[in-house]
Order: sequence, then C-alpha cells, then structure tokens
Amino acid sequence: MKCLIALQVSVLCSWLLLATCFYRIPVPIKHAHQTAGRRTEHHLKLHAKPKHKVCIKHEGVNNFLEVNESESILDAALDAGIRLPHDCKMGVCLRCSAKVTSGQVDQTGTTLDDSVIEQGFALTCMTFARSELSIESVEEDELVNAQFSGRY
Ligand code: FES
Repeated sequence: MKCLIALQVSVLCSWLLLATCFYRIPVPIKHAHQTAGRRTEHHLKLHAKPKHKVCIKHEGVNNFLEVNESESILDAALDAGIRLPHDCKMGVCLRCSAKVTSGQVDQTGTTLDDSVIEQGFALTCMTFARSELSIESVEEDELVNAQFSGRY
C-alpha cells in the first residue's frame, strides 16, 4: 500500500513538473499594473527633461525648433519635417554630418575622434542638446576628410 501511495505521489510530482515546463505561469494582474506604472513613470521622466532652442541650418535654410535633451538632433529634425541626411542612426555611416557653430552638446557614444569634435563636427544621430545651440549640416566628405585624413 505504501509503495502504491509513493508511486502516485511520484506520478503527480512528475505531472506538475511537466506542467510548469510547458505552460507559462500567468503574471498576477496586480504585478502587471505595477510594471505598466513604472513604464509610465519612466516615460514621464524622459519627457520631463529640459528642452533647448535649436537652430538647424540645412541647405541654406535656418530651422528653429525646441529639442528635448533625451532626443537626438537628428530625431528632432526628422520629427519636425527637416530632411537631414542619415542612414544608420548609430554613429557608423557618417551620413548625418554636421558642425556645431554655437552652444553645448552631449556627444557621448559618438564614433568621431576628439580632434574632430574639437573642430566642431558632430553626428546629428549621436548629438544631444545641452543648451541653446546652432548646428548646420555639412557634406559627408568634409567630415570623412577630417576623421580619416593622414590615416591612409
Ligand atoms: S545616421 Fe549614420 S552616423 Fe548618423
């Protein structure tokens, strides 16, 4: 009799183990709401960041907009309908070449050399406003020459 009970318990445990392997354990609704709340708070914090007045000169035209610190210059420009050249949006292709003519920017994560940044060059996809600023698009070749001259 004891052997039969042990066998039944063993079979039951096996079924429970299999059930937990093949079925997702549902997230309690309360926890799901908390997670959604956190996302909303994070979203609000992002949009609570300061905005700066930015002048983007492209193809000889000055475009004025307000740019949130969490938004790249390229994304802000594209959202405003300014068709800045771009491709990868990851600081790799150098198509979004520009020069910062005044103001402070954050270029953390850029692939440009420090010496090139000191000349005012920037990649708009990797550039974030930190003050009122002016920036103008430049030909990709100009930036490529600055970045790679003397290397090859
Ligand atoms: S879009 Fe490619 S480097 Fe900016």
